[in-house]
Amino acid sequence: MKVLLVNGSPHKAGSTSRALEEVARSLRECGAETEIFWLDARPLGGCAACGACSKLGRCVIDDAVNAFREKAAEADGFVFGGPTHYARAGASLLGFMDRLFYSNGRAGEPDVLAHKPAAAVSVARRAGTTSALADIEKFFTISQMPIVSSRYWNLVYGSSAEDVEQDAEGLWTMRQLGRNMAWLLRCIEAGRAAGVAMPASEEGVWTNFVR
Ligand SMILES: Cc1cc2nc3c(=O)[nH]c(=O)nc-3n(C[C@H](O)[C@H](O)[C@H](O)COP(=O)(O)O)c2cc1C
Repeated sequence: MKVLLVNGSPHKAGSTSRALEEVARSLRECGAETEIFWLDARPLGGCAACGACSKLGRCVIDDAVNAFREKAAEADGFVFGGPTHYARAGASLLGFMDRLFYSNGRAGEPDVLAHKPAAAVSVARRAGTTSALADIEKFFTISQMPIVSSRYWNLVYGSSAEDVEQDAEGLWTMRQLGRNMAWLLRCIEAGRAAGVAMPASEEGVWTNFVR
């Protein structure tokens, strides 16, 4: 039972990191293995829409996206967290997720995300976290990933890790998120052991609205 947690902040040890640490600790207390994957301080761009991934089975820009994809193959669940920038999720995290989700499962490569539970975490000094959560969660709903929730919105407040320490309710929410994720992973594990089959899929039908 392994959970990969993405720190989508340019700060390795900022508010996002502090929030994710709380989720990770709670997951470990429930018996899960955890790894925090930091995206780095350098900005990450979005998808070039070059289509190369449909031939390569990975992103043509060989950076954190492909490195994460390899790790994701071994993971059972995910937490994608990042700072709120201008009342939405930070651009680097969204660029990373655009390219990760678009290049995943192409050219005969396995889908390393589908049917694995995922949670979004957002941090901010003051406002915009719920919009940021919606930005992140949209990736899960288009990728057959069950969304893990907590006892409040998955957010913490603060401008720094030290500030976050004072957000007792935010940290409580993070700990419950970890427990809920561990519980769902155990349910999936138990279902698999009991012979519950994965959902069948059918050949896709692709339409658009001009033809
Ligand atoms: C470009 C930029 C835009 C920001 N926009 C917001 C915002 O809209 N609302 C807010 O509350 N905080 C905003 N902040 C503050 C961060 O969300 C806050 O400092 C957060 O704790 C940073 O998390 P981190 O240390 O994990 O990067 C912004 C920060 C930056 C750098």
